[in-house]
Amino acid sequence: MKKFLALTVLFIFAMLAALAEIHVPRASADTKLPEPQTSGGMGLFEALKKRQSAPGGDFPTAPLSDAELSNALWAATGLNRGETGWTVPMDRGLPPYVDVYAALPSGVFRYDWKAHSLADVSKQDIRSKIGLQNFVASAPCSLIFVANAESLAAIKNEELRHQFADVAAGAMTQDVYLAAASMGLGARYIHSIKEADIKRELSLNDRDSVICLMLLGK
Ligand SMILES: Cc1cc2nc3c(=O)[nH]c(=O)nc-3n(C[C@H](O)[C@H](O)[C@H](O)COP(=O)(O)O)c2cc1C
Repeated sequence: MKKFLALTVLFIFAMLAALAEIHVPRASADTKLPEPQTSGGMGLFEALKKRQSAPGGDFPTAPLSDAELSNALWAATGLNRGETGWTVPMDRGLPPYVDVYAALPSGVFRYDWKAHSLADVSKQDIRSKIGLQNFVASAPCSLIFVANAESLAAIKNEELRHQFADVAAGAMTQDVYLAAASMGLGARYIHSIKEADIKRELSLNDRDSVICLMLLGK
């Protein structure tokens, strides 16, 4: 009897451990972000003068406010005129084909530029699993830039698809650098990423590819 009980307890523990490894499926809940700042603030040329990467070894660890996150995401790929104009240029004005995810201590969220909101992706804190450098884990916010294969299908030439996704990510991350400089946040572009792990944590399509991270903190 004792043996049976011990085996049952072991079995339950094993099941719980296995469940903990199972990824939380995409939830449908959306969190509306505060309206982004679209006027005032630091002048563009002053922000250009201040743009720099915060040192990895001493990356700022204080979290962003909702307003700062809202501004950074809007800078990355927000609507800035009507329903079809964005803060970054896209091939032929196509809707953004690079998606932005935010990895925060509270989980992972996908930026929905249409609604300027965050869609739940996962409740896991994945920050320690996404970069090859240790300090990536301590950044309070990592923006993850993902080439969305479905959106990119509108570009027929395969080589151009890759090039244009990289161009978009470059423009988006530079916008984030400038927004960060303007708000006094620390920012750092990261190319050394664990792509397979990120794809799994974000439940991405096989054909999607992760381009880079942008760390933010203050
Ligand atoms: C294409 C590219 C890849 C980069 N990859 C990394 C990286 O993997 N890890 C890192 O710590 N910094 C990375 N950086 C940040 C650079 O090291 C940083 O921009 C450079 O040292 C210049 O500093 P600055 O941005 O302050 O001008 C990358 C920057 C670029 C543009």
